[in-house]
Formats: sequence, structure tokens, C-alpha cells
Amino acid sequence: MKPFDVYPLIDITPIKAEGYKLWDDQGNEYFDLYGGHAVISIGHNHPHYLMRIKEQLEKISFYSNSVQIPIQKELATLLGKLSGYEDYDLFLCSSGAEANENALKLASFETNKAGFISFKGAFHGRTSGAVALTDNPKIIAPFNAAHQAHILPMDLGVVEEVLKRKDIAGIIIEGIQGVAGIQVPGDGFLLGLQTLAKQYGAKLILDEVQSGYGRTGKFFAHQWVEGLKPDLITVAKGMGNGFPIGGVLISPDIPAKHGMLGTTFGGNHLACVAAMAVLEVMDSEELTENAHHLGLKLTDRLKAMEGVTQVRGRGLMIGLDLEGEAAPIRSALIKDFRIFTGNAANKHTIRILPPLNISASALDYFVESFEKALVLNKVV
Ligand SMILES: Cc1ncc(COP(=O)(O)O)c(C=O)c1O
Repeated sequence: MKPFDVYPLIDITPIKAEGYKLWDDQGNEYFDLYGGHAVISIGHNHPHYLMRIKEQLEKISFYSNSVQIPIQKELATLLGKLSGYEDYDLFLCSSGAEANENALKLASFETNKAGFISFKGAFHGRTSGAVALTDNPKIIAPFNAAHQAHILPMDLGVVEEVLKRKDIAGIIIEGIQGVAGIQVPGDGFLLGLQTLAKQYGAKLILDEVQSGYGRTGKFFAHQWVEGLKPDLITVAKGMGNGFPIGGVLISPDIPAKHGMLGTTFGGNHLACVAAMAVLEVMDSEELTENAHHLGLKLTDRLKAMEGVTQVRGRGLMIGLDLEGEAAPIRSALIKDFRIFTGNAANKHTIRILPPLNISASALDYFVESFEKALVLNKVV
């Protein structure tokens, strides 16, 4: 047997990682400005994270959701405190798509409707409902296409028309669109969605899978918008710093019923301890604030660079557009300067999503290397 060949792979084999650095099997050192799709929040192999997981492994690593698992309550309490959503409940699962799928289900149960609205450029994952609401026909199989999905432009008038005509259970939107190349929805648009959702009895779901967990300089990207309080918020990626865990934060207006949601692996002891360790490090090292300050400086420097046509984002969730295609520059950054960056749906865009405790000097090295890569590739 061999792995099902669905991923185009870079020809590098990392075998060790620490903080914002990776080492391959040839002994080469790399700077990680991508965090494996925005997953590495507190840095690779953080000592506190390792210690917490090792200690837990020696006690109990798994039991299903049929017994008391006190660490789930500890995690919900700490996440509530650090995110400012103390009155919400937490449902735990194992990935971002699964978190969205459960949020969609909850909205549908609660409203007794089946239709959903999402937006052009959106990425919500690859489970059936989540992928139906993802704006990429290539990854929607006929089986998924049966959902009542309305993928709309970010236009409140168009959204209201659909809400009037169709039975809509919810509206799902990313705090900042990631795969689309770091596109920040307008504050007025998000607040307008909230008003429309209330008016038409639909639930507002904020997908914070990529933009949450301090990445943008607030715990959640939507918290940059005063007065915005979604019914459901989904999290994953940075939540476990590489350990598979996801979750849905659920408004107290949505009551739980036994059996309405469920999963075997969600909320297991090891996943919860990994997520606790992430929050503890974020809190003690003030990583959200760090992301904010480093992001401001980096964004200013990138904006001033020749060959860069636009810089978008908040904190350490940055998208930059180049005059030419991004692929040759990204490959020069890896081959010549040993820096990982991310791509996006738009061929001209590079995504920067480093660990939130990356150092200012590592970002300096990135900016200098990036400038050189642009010159070497005759972009400027
Ligand atoms: C905004 C957003 N939602 C959902 C997902 C899906 O998460 P996962 O790959 O953990 O299922 C992603 C993954 O890239 C994402 O960026």
C-alpha cells in the first residue's frame, strides 16, 4: 500500500522542529513562516506543551465521551476566560471541517431549516456541508452538491434577497478569509450580517479556524469589530499547535440535547491537554499582543517594498500580492533562503502565517531575504 496521492508535495523532509525553526533530513535549517497551514501557534515543540503532553500520556491518553473527563471542563473554562466568551458552551471535535459541520448542524437543528449562506472565496473544509459551502467547485463531489448552499458575493442586499426567498438556517463567514489570500471582510458588512441574521431568524457562524487563537492580534478576528457576537464560533488549527483538535463555541441561546452531536475522538484527554498547554503559553507569553505588534511592523515594511502591490490582514495573518506570480518567489525563498511561506487561491498572493512567538529578528531575515528574492527573480 502507498499513500493516496492527493497532495502536491515540496521535496523537503522535515525531521526536527523547535520554535519557528525546522530541520530537514540533510541537516538544513528552515524558518517557518507558514506554520503548516497556520497550525503552529505557540511554536514547534514548545517545552511547556511537551511537558504537559508527556505528563498526560503517563496517566491516561484516551477514553470516549461516556465517562467524566474533567480536563474538558478545565479547557472550556480557560478558553472562555481568554476568548471573552465565558457564557458560551464548548463542543469538542478533531478538525476544522468537523467543527464547521457541527456548527451547521446546530444552526439547522435550532432553526429547523436546511439552507445556508456562505461567501465567494470561502474555505470551510471538506466534510459534506462544509465543502458544499466552500467556493471551489473542484472539491465538491456530486454527493456534497445536494446541500442547499448559497455562495454569495459580500453584498448585504444580495444576502437579504436570499434570506427573504429561501429557508436559511445560518450564515457562515471566516473572520478573515484565509485560502482566498487573507481577505478581511468589512466591519459594516459583518455587523449588517448580524442584523440580517437576527431579523430573519438565521444563526451567524464565524469560522475562526484559521483566523482565531490570537493570530490577528485579538483572540478572534471578529473581535476587531465592536458589537459583533456570533451565535456559533468554530476553532481548530492553532488550538492544538499540531495536535488534532477542533471546537464549536455555542451561544447560551442554543440549548444542548443529549445525542444531538457526538464524536469518538473529540475531547480526548491528550487533545485537551495539548489545547490547555496552548492557552497557558498564549497567556503567559502574551502571544496575542505579540502577534499584534510584530504584525504591525511587518505589514508596514512589506507595504513599502517595490514589487508588492497590496498587503492585507491583521497581526500575523498577512497576505501580500506581487506584480508577477508568487510561485517562483516562494520557491526561491525555500531553496535559496530556507523560508517556508504559504500560497493562496490567487496566483499572485503569498500568505505569511508564522508561529505567534516568532522573533523580530526572524522577521527581519524574512524581509531581507524576500527583497533579495524579488531582485534575483527580476521582479524589481
Ligand atoms: C477557515 C477554514 N475553515 C476550515 C478549515 C478546515 O480545517 P481542517 O483542514 O482542519 O478540516 C480550514 C483549513 O484550512 C480553514 O482555513
